[in-house]
Amino acid sequence: SVIAVIYGGRSAERDVSLLSGPLVIGGLRANGYQVVEIDLYGPQKNLNPVTQLQSIEFDFAFIALHGGEGEDGRVQALLEMLGKPYTGSSPLACGLAMDKVLTKRFWHGVGIPTPAYLSFVDQVNSAVIEEAMSYPMIVKPSREGSTIGINKATNRAELDAALLKALEYDSDILVEEFIDGPEFTVTIIDDVAYPAIGLKASPDHALYDYEAKYIADDTEYLLPCGLNEDDENELQMLALDAYRSLGCSGWGRVDVMRDQLGVFWVLEVNTAPGMTSHSLVPMAANYVGIDYASLVEKIAQNAWL
Ligand code: DAL
Ligand code: MG
Repeated sequence: SVIAVIYGGRSAERDVSLLSGPLVIGGLRANGYQVVEIDLYGPQKNLNPVTQLQSIEFDFAFIALHGGEGEDGRVQALLEMLGKPYTGSSPLACGLAMDKVLTKRFWHGVGIPTPAYLSFVDQVNSAVIEEAMSYPMIVKPSREGSTIGINKATNRAELDAALLKALEYDSDILVEEFIDGPEFTVTIIDDVAYPAIGLKASPDHALYDYEAKYIADDTEYLLPCGLNEDDENELQMLALDAYRSLGCSGWGRVDVMRDQLGVFWVLEVNTAPGMTSHSLVPMAANYVGIDYASLVEKIAQNAWL
């Protein structure tokens, strides 16, 4: 059987996927799988993905796309229509998880702790935000990844700038209460939570941002994460609950903050996490003795065997 590794895409995270894709392809080939590479929107920018996926013969798909239609359920739905099994969550779960505002509404309904927030469509109003929330705040485009378009605001001028920036990426805007504490991320594969990684961007970065994620070499990754066993268990259970509550399956990565009182607050679930050399899922897997090639095989087998 032939595995199609779908990567590239036209979201703002295309460049990240161009790093994930070739590594996933290499890992599957190292395990002896026959792989076809599909750089979505790569060779011919205007080629419709329906046409592109239909023109290539394959049996299963490994989705190494990030953001946009590759992570929000559209490519997943297309693969379902084509009758091709694929890695990761269903179209519905992907759609929910990709939309941070919808995710938070959902989590409020089921009792998953997530930072207080306001949401806006198109129209944003700093005065209204200031009445309801105090600084610092985090402003995010609702449906983006890799921290693209996300900024911290500590005063009105920064808030105005952050709102404008976020609006460049999405009409749906999320303004979130800033949690003052370390960030953790939990990898989930096949309904098992892996050891958490603690994240510490260098002091030059206000956030664990795009540069800290993919470019800087001074980002600190804490693995073991530095929590005691009980706290790490609590974090892993919470991550699993958050992931399951959205109906996620296969694999994913849950990002969580911990405040000064030791309370965990879930930020989001990534249904097509980064698989670059700097990425966190390969790091967590490696820590428990699963090398990159074995990891991609595990994710793939989980999807269709
Ligand atoms: N959105 C990026 C790829 C991640 O979550 O790893
Ligand atoms: Mg994300």
